[in-house]
Amino acid sequence: MVENKSKIIAVAGKGGVGKTSISAAIVKVLVSYYPKAKILAIDADPAVGLSTALGIEPASTIDDIRKSIIENVEDGNTREAIELLGEARYRIFDTMVEKDGFAFIAVGRPESAGCYCKINSYLKEVISLLSNEFDYVVIDGEAGIEQINRRVMEKVTHLILVTDPSKKGTQVIQTIKKVADNLVMYDEIGAVVNRINDMSLSDYIDTGNIPILSYISEDKNLAAFDIQGKSVFNLPEDSSVIIGAKEIIKNINLL
Ligand SMILES: Nc1ncnc2c1ncn2[C@@H]1O[C@H](COP(=O)(O)OP(=O)(O)O)[C@@H](O)[C@H]1O
Ligand SMILES: [Mg+2]
Repeated sequence: MVENKSKIIAVAGKGGVGKTSISAAIVKVLVSYYPKAKILAIDADPAVGLSTALGIEPASTIDDIRKSIIENVEDGNTREAIELLGEARYRIFDTMVEKDGFAFIAVGRPESAGCYCKINSYLKEVISLLSNEFDYVVIDGEAGIEQINRRVMEKVTHLILVTDPSKKGTQVIQTIKKVADNLVMYDEIGAVVNRINDMSLSDYIDTGNIPILSYISEDKNLAAFDIQGKSVFNLPEDSSVIIGAKEIIKNINLL
């Protein structure tokens, strides 16, 4: 078998469409299908949220590592992320939180403006460094197209484009796909239409040449969990988001 390459699954789309919830549900489903696999969840969105969705206490972040490197290494500010992180490899492992069959790391929320393109180059190296150590990596991406454009997602093998049923949302994922076709070395790509209740309207949903992996209806359990501050990780199996995550994994050939 040649199939020992790690699977790097990234979730992208516009803001507020369900990327974080679906990323967390995918982690939950992978953990239940593959209890022995090494699974890593990465919160790559500076708006943060994946830790809450997974029920994790946020620890220090990739941005914290970046800052401490800059403070402690001569020329830390000008040297390349790849060089600095190679040396600080152990710190990345120290920063990961392990829980319930998976590990977690977040990029963090850089305070100063202009910092984010730097953290993106660190993130790219972290994905590279860690993907060899894990069987499955699930990345909850930043809203929009920036991380695809900056080649942060270059090594992603499975790209999941989440949209709401709106025209705007489906246009955004088609734009992301066009850019990703040149800049991401994906094996599988697909769309998820989230929060669609009236399937009689599904004919209007045009994702162009992106295959639809799953239609997910409004999830009553998730809405209730949201209000109570409970994590996606504890959603019951019959929740539409969990059923959707299973469908996604099956349809991108990870089952
Ligand atoms: N299928 C769904 N049913 C009910 N609520 C949902 C569903 N998908 C997402 N939500 C809710 O919508 C909000 C935004 O979702 P989130 O996953 O944070 O989106 P994103 O990460 O794309 O910004 C959250 O409050 C989430 O709980
Ligand atoms: Mg999010």
